[in-house]
Amino acid sequence: RIAGPSVLVLFGVTGDLARKKLLPAIYDLANRGLLPPGFGLVGFARREWEHQDFAKEAYEAVREHARTPFREDVWRQLSEGVRFVQGELHDDEAFDRLADTVRDLDADRGTGGNYAFYLSLPPKLFPTVVKQLKRSGLAEQRQDAWRRVIIEKPFGHDLESAKELNAVVDDVFPPQSVFRIDHYLGKETVQNIMALRFANTLFEPMWNRDLVDHVQITMAEDIGVGGRAGYYDGIGAARDVIQNHLLQLLALVAMEEPVSFSADAIRTEKEKVLSAVRLPADLAAGTARGQYAPGWQGGDEVCGYLEEKGIPDDSITETYAALRLEVNTRRWAGVPFYLRTGKRLGRRVTEVALVFRRTPNQVFSQMDTEDMGQNALVLRIQPDEGVTMRFGSKVPGAAMEVRDVTMDFTYGQSFTEASPEAYERLILDVLIGDPPLFPRQQEVELSWEILDPVEEHWAKEGRPEPYESGTWGPESADAMLAREGRQWRRP
Ligand code: BG6
Repeated sequence: RIAGPSVLVLFGVTGDLARKKLLPAIYDLANRGLLPPGFGLVGFARREWEHQDFAKEAYEAVREHARTPFREDVWRQLSEGVRFVQGELHDDEAFDRLADTVRDLDADRGTGGNYAFYLSLPPKLFPTVVKQLKRSGLAEQRQDAWRRVIIEKPFGHDLESAKELNAVVDDVFPPQSVFRIDHYLGKETVQNIMALRFANTLFEPMWNRDLVDHVQITMAEDIGVGGRAGYYDGIGAARDVIQNHLLQLLALVAMEEPVSFSADAIRTEKEKVLSAVRLPADLAAGTARGQYAPGWQGGDEVCGYLEEKGIPDDSITETYAALRLEVNTRRWAGVPFYLRTGKRLGRRVTEVALVFRRTPNQVFSQMDTEDMGQNALVLRIQPDEGVTMRFGSKVPGAAMEVRDVTMDFTYGQSFTEASPEAYERLILDVLIGDPPLFPRQQEVELSWEILDPVEEHWAKEGRPEPYESGTWGPESADAMLAREGRQWRRP
């Protein structure tokens, strides 16, 4: 799987994502030999840069953030195909210059007239850009060359705006040319959910309501909002993470085996799950949200969300959100799926835990059931990637004492190859035109249908509950599970 000749046009090159993820990912692809000699990279931004300024910026991003070792020859070959176009998004002339630049690059490098446009921009700017791409002829669909567009989440902020956004893109690019990035799907461990389930016989027989008591999906971050106040405030944790990353994880965990690994077959199964999701009847009891207050993290004193730069001091944006869902299918009916995400929590960890029912009777009289956890299968998405199985085992000694132990698979120990960064995989898939890891519009809309009623409910509630930074979130989230005799894992 190697990309063919093509040009990647990057909008938003001066942003954080470009510097930390996209530019390094492009270099890593080149370094792994996955980009052809006929590859070009064009940056577009307002900044007064020449080609070499952008190349220098890219070089610094690569030196700082690339996964693979730096190789002068790889960089030289890549940087010879780097161009920059300075301009405003509404300026026709700038887009005409962009069209000329891309055409010249074609002539210089033999890029085959294949273009991918990466809109690493706030969604409100999408309409302007796609219209410009259409007007300048850059988006023109041809028989002998492809034209694709890559859009980053958030795909709208509710169902209605997601539909509006889609209509704008759909007007210019056919559905098979639109690649929506949910970078969680690019993570190795997320793709491994399907491998674990469908390449083995061991797990599927227990993957259902007969044995599973409940499922916990956690995406916890230790960082705060950082420099992203402008994006984050008014969006909040649920729209930022649950609507996309966590519902995608839920879909992969709960779906049936697809008939094949084609994009359509996988997406169809995911959509069935999302259509079967049921919200709690009592949203106050089945959801929780919080906002981080000052506290301590990793030995440092950190400020609360309201003290962060750029956040209004009366902001009611949540930085923690938890949600209890059910999936109304024969496999899952009655099994709660608890989803939670938050910033400034105890530690950075993403995991999916299937927690199993307790044994129907306790034959070991000395087994302390209070102390004993339930069997669990934990898919460790990050940072310590792998799978853990937890079960009870006899403690050595004269007494019949049983205690929980774990059996671990860890990527780093079993494989010598380092996992590629999610963006690396996803950019390569766009250039190849391989769509299974990209959600289609239907999934986006189904996810908003799940979240919209929750957001409406929260909007009436006012301020989220404060939680101390460095802890595991607001008390109401613990109470949400405690009411059902369960508790959150402390990963
Ligand atoms: C992004 C969110 O999609 O995912 C961020 O917008 C979050 O708020 C980030 O920090 C986390 O990604 P990762 O890959 O570090 O888990």
